[in-house]
Amino acid sequence: MRVFEAFRESFGAEPQGVWHAPGRVNLIGEHTDYNDGFVLPFAVPWGVTAAVSPRQDDVVRLWSLQTGEPLTVEVLDRAEGWARYVVGVFSVLREAGHPVRGADLVIDGDVPPGAGLSSSAALEVVVGTALNELYGLGLTKMEIALAAQRAENDFVGMPCGIMDQAASALGEEGKALFMDCRSLGTRSIPFDLAQHGLQLLIINTGVHHELADGQYARRRQDCENAAKRLGVDALRDVTDLAGALSKLSGDERKRTQHVVTENHRVEALIGLLRAGAVREIGALLNASHLSLRDQFEVSCPELDVAVEEAIRGGARGARMTGGGFGGSAIALVADDRVQAVQDAVVLAYAERGWAAPGIYPATPAAGARRLS
Ligand code: GLA
Repeated sequence: MRVFEAFRESFGAEPQGVWHAPGRVNLIGEHTDYNDGFVLPFAVPWGVTAAVSPRQDDVVRLWSLQTGEPLTVEVLDRAEGWARYVVGVFSVLREAGHPVRGADLVIDGDVPPGAGLSSSAALEVVVGTALNELYGLGLTKMEIALAAQRAENDFVGMPCGIMDQAASALGEEGKALFMDCRSLGTRSIPFDLAQHGLQLLIINTGVHHELADGQYARRRQDCENAAKRLGVDALRDVTDLAGALSKLSGDERKRTQHVVTENHRVEALIGLLRAGAVREIGALLNASHLSLRDQFEVSCPELDVAVEEAIRGGARGARMTGGGFGGSAIALVADDRVQAVQDAVVLAYAERGWAAPGIYPATPAAGARRLS
């Protein structure tokens, strides 16, 4: 393992263990997690691997095989750049009263760049999982996910929900993770496309529109404002959509329309999966995309073209996945249409002078775990 060798090289001893945590793709349930709603992500076969040893002091020595330069950080310092995702987890655990001291870490990642498949959640969760074992904290996987989310909220300043970290911590091979983001209850849903002659293609636009960063917080604020105006704790609680919409206007109205219908789409999709009707979920994926594009307004031309061309090429359904403004789309495609879908998307990108998107099938992989 690369991290094992690199650890020995840079720290002059073997690491006490090696852990891995995956990124995620979200099947459906977008921008619902911070509205106390439903999500259905699964862990992907790519993620972050970390070789780690604990230390007797409060220093964190960090080395990423992607960025090169070794970094040394005092645990409670506000670190810079990607180190915040790591140091944030140390700090959150310590603030919660856990006996966590420093550590030496070598980090390696293979999440395709720009794919929006939550490499940051994978990094947080791999660190949380390693510290949990090394310091015998006895945390559940969900508690690790919550600490990871808090690190991202408080140290990186990204007001994300719980979906990405939960998918990374709790994912299971061959299964999607249904989660109620209010109760934090989860259920594993078998998701075996091969059995139905289908594939889920990830179409990585490779772009990240900078405005994304502020826009996420603004969408979240719109949702919270709408909930307040409606007198509910969260948009999850809206039962009479028409009645709610009649009390709202502008952005709050559009965001509410999306969140309420998206929660229903998650439930509908799970119903179809339970019935073994996987081939029928495409229409829900398409509807989710239109809602994210027109009501939640988090898509972008690269995502829209990927979705439209995938459908034109014969996909049974497609949608953007993740936060939006770039990253990846997903497309549900029958085995015999995969080539046609790929060709359609690649051609459409070339015609617009855009760099070719990365297109790869994704199957649900295991969540965070110790490798050695
Ligand atoms: C990002 C956030 C998640 C979630 C999605 C949108 O990935 O990190 O918490 O809100 O966007 O569904």
